[in-house]
Amino acid sequence: QRNPVAKMLLFGATGDLAKRMLLPSLYGLHADGLLPAALTITGSARGELDDAGFRKEAREALDEFLPADRKDDAAIGSFLDRLFFQPADLSDESTFQALADKIGDVSGGLAIFLSTAPSLFEPAVKGLEKVGLAGDTVRIGLEKPLGYDLASSREINDTVAAVFPEERIFRIDHYLGKETVQNILALRFGNSFFEPVWNARGIDNVQITIAETVGLEDRAGYYEGAGALRDMVANHMLQLLALIAMEPPARYDMTEVRDEKAKVFRSLRQMTPADVPHCTVTGQYLGGAVKGEIVKGYDEELGKDSDTETFVAIKAHVDNWRWQGVPFYLRTGKRMAVRRSEIAIQFKAVPHSMFAGRGGLLQPNTLVIRLQPEEYIELLVMAKEPGLDREGVRLREVPLKLSLDAEFAGTRRRIAYERLLLDLIEGDQTLFVRRDEVEAQWTWIDAIRAGWEANGTKPKHYPAGTWGPNAAVALTERDGVTWMDD
Ligand code: BG6
Repeated sequence: QRNPVAKMLLFGATGDLAKRMLLPSLYGLHADGLLPAALTITGSARGELDDAGFRKEAREALDEFLPADRKDDAAIGSFLDRLFFQPADLSDESTFQALADKIGDVSGGLAIFLSTAPSLFEPAVKGLEKVGLAGDTVRIGLEKPLGYDLASSREINDTVAAVFPEERIFRIDHYLGKETVQNILALRFGNSFFEPVWNARGIDNVQITIAETVGLEDRAGYYEGAGALRDMVANHMLQLLALIAMEPPARYDMTEVRDEKAKVFRSLRQMTPADVPHCTVTGQYLGGAVKGEIVKGYDEELGKDSDTETFVAIKAHVDNWRWQGVPFYLRTGKRMAVRRSEIAIQFKAVPHSMFAGRGGLLQPNTLVIRLQPEEYIELLVMAKEPGLDREGVRLREVPLKLSLDAEFAGTRRRIAYERLLLDLIEGDQTLFVRRDEVEAQWTWIDAIRAGWEANGTKPKHYPAGTWGPNAAVALTERDGVTWMDD
């Protein structure tokens, strides 16, 4: 049931995320007539800016980050009219009264979005409560990182829970807002033919790859303390794994979907320090060439020596009836050969080949779900090569491909945040991460980190522009499995 708010308050409104994603997303919703007609958006951040100054900054951000075909002067003008600004220093208690005065009456609902350092969550929620900006009509969206381990994430959750009940807390994982990620659910639960083989009898292994070509991107302060495991696996990759592994929810709603995901996180096999060396590989990029461009190594970019991992590969298991014995290989890294997010589901080989010895090895079927940069779903099947077959039938692996880009060419691709901000404004939590999910994710992640510590694991170097350290190849090859690279 959707229950839109009349006002929005955006902390971190002059930051990078706001400029690149949040303002363009809100504009996109506005231009399509999807925002409540009277919705006002008050930006807030440190520094002396007024309404006019914020509108000017917002216009510049839209100019820079909106695709050309989305720039409509009239729509931009009416969008800017929704914007207001109130300077605030969240670490300063006296900030909040002025904010409350600026926002005014919140009886029509207020959606707050905290795109700030997590260290500011506590003073923020306490300050908001004190000035009456945390009552029943107010909901709050939280941007990652929500902690760096279970203990710190519990602390954040407790702090926020002291002021906001869970049903008014919206924890963002922007992967859940991506169209193709949504499509995993459509594929699995809108079709009948996958489900009978979607288990340990039908599936040999699952591979989830998020490869990026970018490096540190001016985020040294955050990334150096995080590393690939916390930055990408503890949230986005585990969410993808859960959507692939979960049981069919009874309904597409916030309780059923999140219940099923949470069960998957609780079923992840906890690693012991003895498991960690053969179930995980960490790497850090050296200088090299990415897409023809010479780039620096991580240490050089950072300006000091570091043991932070910029690559991680993991062999995970979901210990339940459906998935017993099926490895889930996860792999993510910065400065890799290409930018690609993809899930590859490799089915079991045929039990017996009647073509054996007669030309053409049988490849097991693979279902590839490409999330980005292209969006498609591809089923690799064996087909007969044309010919008279006098020397034996020749088979070849060919793709049955559904290009979502082409099939839905007339439909605009939205930024993941558009959907998520609209859901926050309208109060639908289905695509937001529940507390028990976050904590179960951290429990599993912490065991891996503890294993690295116990074993004195240091990342292995890999040249920028490659698929990571060789050990990541060995991780799957030991099991007779090859990563899907092309
Ligand atoms: C963020 C990470 O959550 O996701 C970044 O902090 C990463 O390090 C980004 O680059 C990747 O998102 P996307 O949508 O570009 O795949």
